[in-house]
Amino acid sequence: MSDTEQTAVESLSAEAAKIELERLAAAIAHHDTAYHQNDAPEVSDAEYDALRLRNSAIEARFPDLVRKDSPSQRVGAAAAEKFDKITHAVPMLSLSNAFNDEDVDEFCARIRRFLNLPDDELLAMTAEPKIDGLSASLRYENGRLVTGATRGDGQVGENVTENLKTIKDIPHRLAGSDWPDVVEIRGEVYMTHADFEALNTRQAAEGKQTYVNPRNTAAGSLRQLDPAMTAARPLKFFAYAWGEVSEEPWSTQMGAVEQMAAWGFVINPQMQRCESVAEMLSVYRGIEEQRASLGYDIDGVVYKVDRLDWQRRLGFVSRAPRWATAHKFPAEKATTVLRDIEIQVGRTGALTPVAKLDPVTVGGVVVSNATLHNEDEIERKDVRIGDTVIIQRAGDVIPQVLGHVPEKRPASAEAFVFPVYCPACGSHAVREHNPKTGKLDAVRRCTGGLICPAQAVERLKHFVSRNAFDIEGLGTKQIEAFHEEGMIQRPADIFTLRKRDERSLKKLKDREGYGETSARNLFDAVDDRRNVSLDRFIYALGMRHVGETTARLLARTYGTMEALNEALVAASDRESDAWADLVNIDGIGEVVAEALVDFFAEEHNQEVLRDLLAEVSPEPLEAVASESPVSGKTVVFTGSLEKMTRDEAKAMAERLGAKVAGSVSKKTDLVVAGPGAGSKLKKATDLGVEVTDEDGWFVLIGEG
Ligand code: IVH
Repeated sequence: MSDTEQTAVESLSAEAAKIELERLAAAIAHHDTAYHQNDAPEVSDAEYDALRLRNSAIEARFPDLVRKDSPSQRVGAAAAEKFDKITHAVPMLSLSNAFNDEDVDEFCARIRRFLNLPDDELLAMTAEPKIDGLSASLRYENGRLVTGATRGDGQVGENVTENLKTIKDIPHRLAGSDWPDVVEIRGEVYMTHADFEALNTRQAAEGKQTYVNPRNTAAGSLRQLDPAMTAARPLKFFAYAWGEVSEEPWSTQMGAVEQMAAWGFVINPQMQRCESVAEMLSVYRGIEEQRASLGYDIDGVVYKVDRLDWQRRLGFVSRAPRWATAHKFPAEKATTVLRDIEIQVGRTGALTPVAKLDPVTVGGVVVSNATLHNEDEIERKDVRIGDTVIIQRAGDVIPQVLGHVPEKRPASAEAFVFPVYCPACGSHAVREHNPKTGKLDAVRRCTGGLICPAQAVERLKHFVSRNAFDIEGLGTKQIEAFHEEGMIQRPADIFTLRKRDERSLKKLKDREGYGETSARNLFDAVDDRRNVSLDRFIYALGMRHVGETTARLLARTYGTMEALNEALVAASDRESDAWADLVNIDGIGEVVAEALVDFFAEEHNQEVLRDLLAEVSPEPLEAVASESPVSGKTVVFTGSLEKMTRDEAKAMAERLGAKVAGSVSKKTDLVVAGPGAGSKLKKATDLGVEVTDEDGWFVLIGEG
């Protein structure tokens, strides 16, 4: 189709428009197939866009002629839907952080200790920029790109295959022929500064909304429901990691990335192999110096152990590998005026002072709130309302107020008086004495407990948060609104929403911002979560000191919510076996144990739990390796180990689904005793617990 043959839209008769719309629908459908399914586009992106534009222009003039199969309708239909979910065959992890040279030194020292490397053994590391974009995983089967997904929560991402295919740096077929049958390539999708600015200029010229920073724009662009929209926004991709691989054709990190380049991926040219901490730090300084001229945002340098056999031995803690860390660049700072201090009440009743600021851009993001931590910090920094303050923002961390600029203090500035009553419920807010240290706690807490609406709403927000129940369409804003209107007071209320809605006159679908579809979607999303995993369930309860790691530990140790509840109720008797078992879990100290026991001893918590369990069935954690001979067993390591360090032994046992305990009891299934084992070995023999040595352990787990 050439432009010269086209009649201008304004001059089309209805008859001609009808024929033209039919022709356009067929042509666009044809090009969609050619592009997305056959990877063989026949027209340029610009020509394709022109077809869609003409289609829309004709439809705007003749709304009665819009066809059922029109491309504009297809997009409309897709817009109501969401992306499909993809479960990552290998989870997508996050990285631990290092903030200074000492942290980097300690990172390497920890690895040496874990692997028991002699001082003169070379520990090579790769160093490369940490790209400030969003990660994606690309699955190739027989060299062909079959699916592409976002990271999501690390376990489950969104299927954005068609959008990823529009990125030129992403090959649809791997180059060469020496690839494994299945290989998942991971890396970062990002937008360059130049493309970001050009896009914003275009948006502004068209009177459309402009974007805040390249990262958010890249994320928004990748999640467009219409791949043509993604295609219109220039995204790029650096490959730096991998997921499932049917057969690993590499043995070092550097080798793997070089292989990716040979398959046609773009790899970061700054990546280097380092042979000492000094070299790592010098690469860091070098990259930091070039930061402003790279043309894309980076927020640090990632170090990775080069040898993959060592990476495997090192494994993971929680969601981050032990073999990698991100050395962050120093946080960016700015000054602005402090207009007010607001007190926020958190989930555990903590009163946090929040600085209300004149909006200021820090590191590409507009900041108008920052944390002042607690009342001692306000006093220490002598920050007063009206002051010009220095604020800092580091990565994803909440911006914080560092101090004030004395020369700019107005005469009217007065010291802030920290409230001793909770602003949400009026209960006394107190600072507890730490019974162990005798010191006054830095945090003032509301004593209102359940009657405090702020605590209740924060608990609900935590309950639905990403690593807890993660209910699509039920985020912070919705929880606040539903809570305020009394629709959701306690977690169980979320799960009775649909039932109550059916009986109610005031239906969700009639609310502002909702319709039939979005109301149904919300109810479905809630139903989707009636079977969460036990560790998420425990984490969602928001108990003090129970983060994801502890939640997982409890889930793995007790297996079911009923068993956990029973054990923790029994553990309120400090003389009981239940208490001894609890504090014996490696990773649970007394403070956590006490917080747990307190939680389960409260009748109102029991009630919340009962109501919730009537609606939700937590599923036991999938045994990490169910076929493992030690899975579900309680193991104690004692004496000195020679083939592995104690940390490594523990990590290995946990990877195989075993629980590692610190002392021997009748619940112990196996004691691995090295030379010099003393009282624990004796106790095991007395109790008739199975004992083996290090070699026996390796035989048992199939590595002997
Ligand atoms: S490696 C198992 N390398 O940082 C380790 N990550 O904080 C996998 N990121 O989700 C990550 N640049 O989105 C790695 N050169 C790089 C990176 C990088 C950016 C992001 C990635 C990841 C996040 C973790």
